[in-house]
Amino acid sequence: MDTIIRKITDNEQENLYAVRAAAQVIRRGGLVAFPTETVYGLGADAFDEKAAEKIYAAKGRPSDNPLIVHIAEKKDLERLTDHISRSAALLTERFWPGPLTIIVPKSDAVPLTVTGGLQTVAVRLPSHPVARKLIAESKTLIAAPSANLSGRPSPTTAAHVTEDLNGRIEMILDAGAIEIGLESTIVDLTGKLPMLLRPGYITLEMLEAVLGTVLTDPALMTGVQGDIRPKAPGMKYRHYAPRAELAIVSGKDRNAVVYKLQELVDQALDEGKKTGVMLSEENRGKIRGGDQIILGSSARPEEIAGNLFAALRAFDAREADVIYSESFSTQGFGQAVMNRLLKAAGQKVIDVTVPEKNKR
Ligand code: TXA
Ligand code: MG
Repeated sequence: MDTIIRKITDNEQENLYAVRAAAQVIRRGGLVAFPTETVYGLGADAFDEKAAEKIYAAKGRPSDNPLIVHIAEKKDLERLTDHISRSAALLTERFWPGPLTIIVPKSDAVPLTVTGGLQTVAVRLPSHPVARKLIAESKTLIAAPSANLSGRPSPTTAAHVTEDLNGRIEMILDAGAIEIGLESTIVDLTGKLPMLLRPGYITLEMLEAVLGTVLTDPALMTGVQGDIRPKAPGMKYRHYAPRAELAIVSGKDRNAVVYKLQELVDQALDEGKKTGVMLSEENRGKIRGGDQIILGSSARPEEIAGNLFAALRAFDAREADVIYSESFSTQGFGQAVMNRLLKAAGQKVIDVTVPEKNKR
């Protein structure tokens, strides 16, 4: 199959034609990659089981990993669930359209293929105008995971989508680089108390300001460990992972972190390894050697989020053997950044903090 790429430009008329062509593909049961404000999505008609199956096949995605249904208007939520709870009403009022996905009980209209066999459904109203126009023009709702091959970092440019899915899908709507760069926040509203399943641009603090107490999935920052398993099926898989081995160096003392990073880089280079380094703006110029990518200021998680997945893909393209990254704050949106970084590293952290008892 030839994948058609249509560019979104500032020509409104041409954009409308491109979006209408994409909507035709969706209506005929095909697959379209499209921009959202978080990452590129891979869309299909949410009420067409055959089309949804094609998503799993194109991505190589396990069939027990459910898709998010994307809607164009708040009232579309009524097509997916029979009862809208008070929490759902409050959250959607405050954060939609935007980077928030809610999990609610599914109505009979939602195929089990889309929900990975679950009786609940994930719903999101994106704020990206191209995404909303595509859904509206398709005259259906659109099931869409991130538009990457299963296991690879989510795509933040159309070139990333091409890298993974060229020849496997009908069309890509190319709207350039994506603003946020990390996937939406997911909150489960089907339990007694709301629970954060995946951190994102809408932070835990922002959710709590609207809902009061919000629980956090215990597996969120630890991954699968013993009996602890993430509640969002997709969060248990090795994910966002570069082909290289990635380790995070963390510690309270910034100088100690830089010192350790340098030691690890020197050692890897001595062993003849292609060595990548991910650093904050604050540590620019402080490490010698290795292939360095500056992710952004450690005081601005939005910058780091915007560059993280592209950096991981760049190290793949350059065939890095090992990558060392500094650790970042988990405050606010930083929680999402560290959640993705930890997953990419398979939770491998080298902590250089000196334990209290060893201090003199
Ligand atoms: O920002 C985003 O959310 C992007 C854009 C394209 O909208 N989409 C996205 O989809 O990240 P995906 O498929 O890569 O991640 C969806 C996550 C998976 O971890 C999946 O397991 C979880 O949502 N999920 C979906 N339905 C669920 C459900 N009913 N219960 C629990 N988790 C669910
Ligand atoms: Mg994904």
